[in-house]
Amino acid sequence: MNPTPFSLRCQFACTVGMVLALLGDLATGVAAEAAPTTPVTVSVQTDQPGAEVSPLMWGIFFEDINYNGDGGLYPERVKNRSFEFTEPLMGWQQISRGGAVGTLSVLDHDPLNANNPHYLRLAVGKAGDGFGLSNDGFFGMGVEKGARFTFSVEARVPQGGPVNLAVDLVSPSGQRLAGDTVHVSGGEWTRYAKTLRANTTEPKARLNVYLVGTGAVDLDMVSLFPANTWKHHANGLRPDLVQLLADLKPGFMRFPGGCIVEGRDLDKRYQWKTTIGPLAERKLIINRWNDEFKHRPAPDYFQSFGLGFFEYFQLCEDLGAEPLPILNCGMACQFNTGELVPLDQLDPFIQDALDLIEFANGPASSPWGARRAAMGHPQPFGMKLLGVGNEQWGPQYLERYAAFAKALKTKHPEIRLVSSAGPSPADERFNFLWPKLRELKADIVDEHCYDRPAWFLDNAFRYDAYPRTGPKVFMGEYAAQSDKTVSVLNRNNLECALAEAAYLTGLERNADVVTMSSYAPLMGHEEGWQWRPNLIWFDNLHAYGTPSYYVQQLFSRNRGDVVLPTRVANAPKAANDQPRFYASSVRDQKTEEVILKVVNATEQAVEADLNLAGAHKVKSTAQTTVLTSAQLADENSLAEPRKVSPVNTRIKVGGASFHHTFPARSLTVLRVATSE
Ligand code: AHR
Repeated sequence: MNPTPFSLRCQFACTVGMVLALLGDLATGVAAEAAPTTPVTVSVQTDQPGAEVSPLMWGIFFEDINYNGDGGLYPERVKNRSFEFTEPLMGWQQISRGGAVGTLSVLDHDPLNANNPHYLRLAVGKAGDGFGLSNDGFFGMGVEKGARFTFSVEARVPQGGPVNLAVDLVSPSGQRLAGDTVHVSGGEWTRYAKTLRANTTEPKARLNVYLVGTGAVDLDMVSLFPANTWKHHANGLRPDLVQLLADLKPGFMRFPGGCIVEGRDLDKRYQWKTTIGPLAERKLIINRWNDEFKHRPAPDYFQSFGLGFFEYFQLCEDLGAEPLPILNCGMACQFNTGELVPLDQLDPFIQDALDLIEFANGPASSPWGARRAAMGHPQPFGMKLLGVGNEQWGPQYLERYAAFAKALKTKHPEIRLVSSAGPSPADERFNFLWPKLRELKADIVDEHCYDRPAWFLDNAFRYDAYPRTGPKVFMGEYAAQSDKTVSVLNRNNLECALAEAAYLTGLERNADVVTMSSYAPLMGHEEGWQWRPNLIWFDNLHAYGTPSYYVQQLFSRNRGDVVLPTRVANAPKAANDQPRFYASSVRDQKTEEVILKVVNATEQAVEADLNLAGAHKVKSTAQTTVLTSAQLADENSLAEPRKVSPVNTRIKVGGASFHHTFPARSLTVLRVATSE
């Protein structure tokens, strides 16, 4: 199959359209103006419902990039808590008070366990007022006044008598925000814990641990973990970030990536089995984004796997989102080494997939189901989707996908598999893979696209030309790039968000072909990002959604159930003769509302005649939600988190045909009730 995306694209939205005016062109910034001579009309065939909109249509894609996991969603405040970073004291500073003298040594004799082979020995010869170590946190440690934290540590006294540890949470200037003393005795590893309550809000606190007096102590898994987690789960997630995800009402969550699945080489690939079970036994690895971009180095970026596969499944359950894990298929990242597992050695990789299905869905009496139950979740997670490889391409991928599919479909025909169409939505890799995946009867094909806003505007009709049978499309990674892919200049502005919204109308209109979609990446730490744009930004205390976030939210929260045929006539066009005014609509069967989404990507307000053909009992007023702003370059920020955000109003409708003005640079969602 070659989708020939451009040839048939005017099926609905511009069949009647003539070039009426060169209104402002979002893609080029051209603002040539001419008054329209024929009115723009939007016609919705409310009595001809089409395809069902999949409940999975609008989802989220999570990858531990930009400090989204450690340092973000996973709220452990201590960086390198297990002393397993390549430089084992990275993130820690030696500290001394009142002339105390001692040593910090990283040892590996008789460790906590084999997966966590290093620990710290803190020895003090001259007491002073305390000698020890201080943790940097992730760009500091965010603490809020009154917030409770559990300080915990695995400790033992190697020789000699018991020791006291003074534990202090301090501001950058040394002001004490909370503190306590831990009494350590005995030569066996033992977990000690204390509750600390911060007396001040501070975005960049530090954790100081002093041995008071003389002696020695071994320390590992030094942790400062907030009590306030999402749903108060132990080892739970940062609530303000999860709230932003929950507010999207995602139909699915894809995890754990992204390129992180693949690894730069196979040794560094994501292996789900090392991410479950007791925290101290999860095997830390370097994060592949640590050194991916020389211009955005992140030498302290590792994966502790405190956020592992159990936590991902639990998050999906909390969000009411279908879990979509993606597994390595025996290929390292093809942008890096492209290392391959020989086909005759692929079995352990396929077995990992089979075991994952048992971990997620098997009874608590099964070996992997028992592991899930031991983590506190005896009930299955009900996984129905599984991705084979991330962004792979070439015949090597097809061979490996086929081997996975054969084994998985034999044992688990109930699991729908997601396969890769490569990193671009329209290149030779894509054109090679799609027909082959069709021959292989793939279930769902994952397309990726990072391109300029103009690409999204010009490709809003791409799926009109796709075959209506065969594999479904998962628009699995996309984001409009205001500059270019991986450029540090990319911005999350209104222009990008509207281009994405225009594109999403095309996904919605083609819900018989497109079954899932997700923006990528999901989040970025303001001080630690490697990649932009991102859907959500955060620092140690605050978070906000971008204009793109609100586009996602408006589509997801107005998903409806069935597509209604929608046609735009006389749409304003850009200089390249492509429309810059887009519409799609769905019906909510329960509320009997027509939900119309309109994107005006021009710099002028557009007056349109709307016709809800076949609707007999139209309520006199309707709810509109509008996302717009004064400039295409407008963005949200920590200082102005809702500068570009949706505004609700009610408008007069008065019948099945009415007139409405769509503001310049806007996405409008109209919910029109069509029953009494
Ligand atoms: O979203 C960032 C990266 O882009 C993903 O890890 C990868 O799949 C794609 O190339």
